[in-house]
Amino acid sequence: MPGTASPTPLRVALLGCGVVGTEVARGLLTGAADLAARVGAPLELVGVAVRDLETERDPAVPRELLTTDAEKLVESADIVVEVMGGIEPARTLLLRAIAGGASVVTANKALLAERWPELFEAADAAGVDLSFEAAVAGAIPIVRPVRESLAGDHVRRVLGIVNGTTNFVLDRMATDGLELEEAVREAQALGYAEADPTADVDGFDAAAKAAILASLAFHTRVSIDDVAREGIRAVTADDVAAAAATGHTVKLLAIAERTAEGVSVRVHPALVPTDHPLAAVRGAFNAVFVEADGAGPLMFYGQGAGGRPTASAVLGDVVSAARHRVLGGKGPQESAYASLPLLPADAATTRYQVRLVVDDRPGVLAQVAGVLAEHGVSIDTVRQSALGAEAAEGADPAGATANLLLTTHRAREASLAATVAAVAGLAPVREITSVLRVEGA
Ligand code: HSE
Repeated sequence: MPGTASPTPLRVALLGCGVVGTEVARGLLTGAADLAARVGAPLELVGVAVRDLETERDPAVPRELLTTDAEKLVESADIVVEVMGGIEPARTLLLRAIAGGASVVTANKALLAERWPELFEAADAAGVDLSFEAAVAGAIPIVRPVRESLAGDHVRRVLGIVNGTTNFVLDRMATDGLELEEAVREAQALGYAEADPTADVDGFDAAAKAAILASLAFHTRVSIDDVAREGIRAVTADDVAAAAATGHTVKLLAIAERTAEGVSVRVHPALVPTDHPLAAVRGAFNAVFVEADGAGPLMFYGQGAGGRPTASAVLGDVVSAARHRVLGGKGPQESAYASLPLLPADAATTRYQVRLVVDDRPGVLAQVAGVLAEHGVSIDTVRQSALGAEAAEGADPAGATANLLLTTHRAREASLAATVAAVAGLAPVREITSVLRVEGA
C-alpha cells in the first residue's frame, strides 16, 4: 500500500555483467541491508542475464544467478537494470520490461540518444520510471540535477567534458607533449580507451551524452543525429602547445546552447581559457558546467567511467525507482513540451582562433584583416610570433614568413568557415596551421 513500507522484496533483474554489471551486482548483494533500509523493502537480485555462462567472472556474482534467457528474466522483475550497452537486444528487452510494468534503469547512452521517444512513450504510457543517471558522465550526478533540481529554472547553456578517454589523451598531450597516437596508445594500455578508440576519439560517445543533456536541459527532443560532431583526431601536439602559449587548454566539449533561434548541440575540440573551471579537469575525469538564469554557473565534477563509479549512479537510480514502488509516486515523465527548433551546425555562434603562416611583407596583415571584414567577422586579437628561419639576419627578406594568430569575436560558424576558406586562398598565406574554436570565454 502506498505510504507504507512493504516487506515484500522487490525483484531486480540485471542485464549485462561486464565491468559495471559486476559492480552493480556486488553493490546489491553486499549492500543489501543498507539498501533495504533506504528503500523500505529488500532488493532481491533475481538474475543476471549474460551472453555466455562459461565466461570467467568475479566471484561476487553468484553463478546460480546467471542466465542466458534475458527475455524470461525481465518478465518477472519489478526493476530491470540494463548495463549491456548497444541498441539491440537492449531496446527490445527494455520495451518488454516496461510493457510488463517494470521500472527500468539504464546506463545505455547510445540507446537513449537514438531511441529516446520510443522509450519514453512506452515508460510514460506504462506509468513506470525510466532512469539513466549513469548514461551521462558516469558517477557524476548530472541527469537528476538537470532533470529535477533545475526544473524550475531556465538553462541557457551546458558545456561538458563528458568523455574521459579523450580528456586523458588531451591532458597527456598537454603535459608531456605527446602526439595524439602516442597518448591514445597510453590510454589503451591503461584500459581507458578501447582497442578501437573510434567511439571516444571521434566524439560519438560525447555526442550521445550531449543529446541526452540537451533533451533534458531544453525540454526538447534531441537525438544523436542532431548533434554536430567533430572528434579530436586532427588535434596535434603543436596545437596543444600553442593553446597553452595563449592561455588556453584544448578540451573535447559537448555543448548544448539555447539561443533566440533555437537549440544548438555540438561536440568538438575547443580552446578553453585556463582560468575556466573546465580547464582544471585533468586526466580521465569528467565535468559538466551548466549556466542557468536563476542558479547562475554550476559545476559538476567526478569520475565519468569505471565499474564502481558507474555502478554508484546505477544503484542510486535503483533505490529511487524502488522507493517509488514501495512508497508510491513516480520519477519524472519525459518533458519535451518546448519542442524548440534544432539549429544546423553552421548556425552555431562561436569564436575561432586561427594560426597561419604568411609572407612577411607590408600589407599582408591588412589583406587578411580585409577578408575578415568582408565576411562580417570581427577580430578580437592578432599576434605575430616567431618569424621563420628565413627571416634570420642576412636571409633574403623576400622569403621571410611570419606566424599569425588571429582570434575572432563570436560569429556564425558558417561565416567563420567561409572566412577561413577565403583567407586560405590569399596569395601571401602559405598555410593555415590550425583552426580551433574558443569556448567558455
Ligand atoms: N568511454 C567513455 C569515456 C566512458 O571515455 O568517458 C563511457 O561512456
